Amino acid sequence: MKRQAEQTAAGSTTENLLDDPYQIEEASERQTFAERNHRMEWWREARLGLFIHWGPYAMPAGEWKGEEIQASYSEHIMLRAKIPAAEYEEMAAGWNPSSFDALKWVRTAKRAGLKYIIFTAKHHDGFAMYSSQVSDYSIVQHAAFGRDPLRELAEACEQEEMELGIYYSHAMDWHDPDSQGNTWDYPGNIGAYDGVESWAHDPDKRSRFERYLDSKSLPQVRELLTDYGKVGLMWFDCGGKLTREQGQQFLDTVYSLQPDCLVNSRVWKAPLGDYSNTSDNQLTTRALRQDWENIITLNDSWGYKKSDHNWKSPASIVRQIIDVVSKNGNLVINIGPTETGEWDPVSESILLEVGGWLDTCGDSIYGAGESPTARPSWGRCTVKGNTLYLHAFDRPADRKLVVPGLLSDVLRAYMLEDGRELNLTRISEQDLAIELPESVSTEGDESAKPLVIAVHCSGPVEGNPVRLLDSRGDSIQELGVFDSEISGTGLKYDTGKKGRDNLLDWTDESAEAVWSVRTLGAAEFDVCIEYGSGDGEDGGGGTFRVTTGDQTLRAQVQVTGGPYDFQEFYVGRLRFPEAGEYLIRLQAERITGRYLMQPRCLKLQR
Ligand code: GLC
Repeated sequence: MKRQAEQTAAGSTTENLLDDPYQIEEASERQTFAERNHRMEWWREARLGLFIHWGPYAMPAGEWKGEEIQASYSEHIMLRAKIPAAEYEEMAAGWNPSSFDALKWVRTAKRAGLKYIIFTAKHHDGFAMYSSQVSDYSIVQHAAFGRDPLRELAEACEQEEMELGIYYSHAMDWHDPDSQGNTWDYPGNIGAYDGVESWAHDPDKRSRFERYLDSKSLPQVRELLTDYGKVGLMWFDCGGKLTREQGQQFLDTVYSLQPDCLVNSRVWKAPLGDYSNTSDNQLTTRALRQDWENIITLNDSWGYKKSDHNWKSPASIVRQIIDVVSKNGNLVINIGPTETGEWDPVSESILLEVGGWLDTCGDSIYGAGESPTARPSWGRCTVKGNTLYLHAFDRPADRKLVVPGLLSDVLRAYMLEDGRELNLTRISEQDLAIELPESVSTEGDESAKPLVIAVHCSGPVEGNPVRLLDSRGDSIQELGVFDSEISGTGLKYDTGKKGRDNLLDWTDESAEAVWSVRTLGAAEFDVCIEYGSGDGEDGGGGTFRVTTGDQTLRAQVQVTGGPYDFQEFYVGRLRFPEAGEYLIRLQAERITGRYLMQPRCLKLQR
């Protein structure tokens, strides 16, 4: 095997999580690595959690006074419809969700294969979903219901051995006269979208906000960690609205009361907290080595919203689970129970269908993590102990699944769902091929659940992570920009949300995106690139090149309908003269537009 005489990917970026450019402090004065590993253990084993967004916003469910409110999140209705606190209070007072059944919720979460629950004890609307001594604006003291859902859930979790996590909106409170967000009742307040710099040096705003933190937010966090038994994790939100010192104060408060309780990075932002969060519904993420958690909704809203029928399919959620675990992350899936305290049947059936897949294939998920082997063109790999799990999203037409970069000796391979043994052959020092049985259809489509194959190795799984270009058949191999290393001033990964899995701000002519690849022999591929560019003053433009070794393909940026209107263009044919590792570089040549372009991926086809 010949290694291309080039260095590995240029200037690797430190930008791991898109909204969290810093690393979590993995070891500190507070804890050693061993202590940290011990605290994180249950969470790394769990891998999957259930978010529950439930509060008075489930009543209007996206509509106010007969009108649909323009907000994708129903729990933001108070802000978006500028509902006066007094009116919201009146609505909340009448709330009586008599169908609420904590045990049923927890048992259904278990059937869905989810191992921890995160319950909204107080969302931005300021309404406590538990019995609070600090403020009587709570479901127990203020609403008709009078029961304490958090207590009932904590008891049900204990009974069912489910880990309990608590969501608490610490920075924003639209009910409190001194907090952030509500400027329609309290015009002097910090606005919902104002940055810290807008108030940090304003004595009035700052002192009032600190009064809210000291009189409501911190005391409520204390009661949550004192009155409800062991709390597995505290999930804070919008911590970027606090100063670092304020974020630290919340962290210290949690650790002083329950040292083993985990805290997410939104307590402020990384490096504070025990693990990082992605953005909401960030579907494309970078491979991460630290502990991180991805959060998704089943439709678009976290809270229950009547008109939101934009459901994700169970198969796409299963893929998301696999993708996240293959990068060492956890996935938290949300449900927004209705006004009566029930789960709407669509949400429940999606979750249970995912649970059905986990019933048979959960071994490849719980306690599993990133594989040292390469990401295959047909799906993802996860690892647990000496077992490599293959998740085939697509099924090759010749039924031969090439397992790239597996260096360990293999004892056996079998289908996880029914234990069927599979034949395997070594096709090179680093690669294996597994034959799928005749009965497995190769027609797999987006709605099919991935096939999972367990590969038992004779020792710990060892591998080569460099992506193998498949030179058989004529399948298209996509090299996404999120899998490239980028360098240069300004160039960055976009948010990773739907339709935002591209690079952004390419204004530096020396910036580049680099992929490491490997071939099994001499190979040639047609190269296409997908990008958005737009037109006119705000558009992209210029020339770029794709290189490998001493070959260079040049092209001019074409106009597309807009920066996010991604279109595919042919660039040329790349040759890899022999088996070995190569770097493919996408580089700017000349930038004539406001930026070069917003590339999404390279596509290689034989
Ligand atoms: C956001 C929203 C909030 C939601 C949360 C979940 O920050 O403001 O409504 O609870 O994300 O991740």
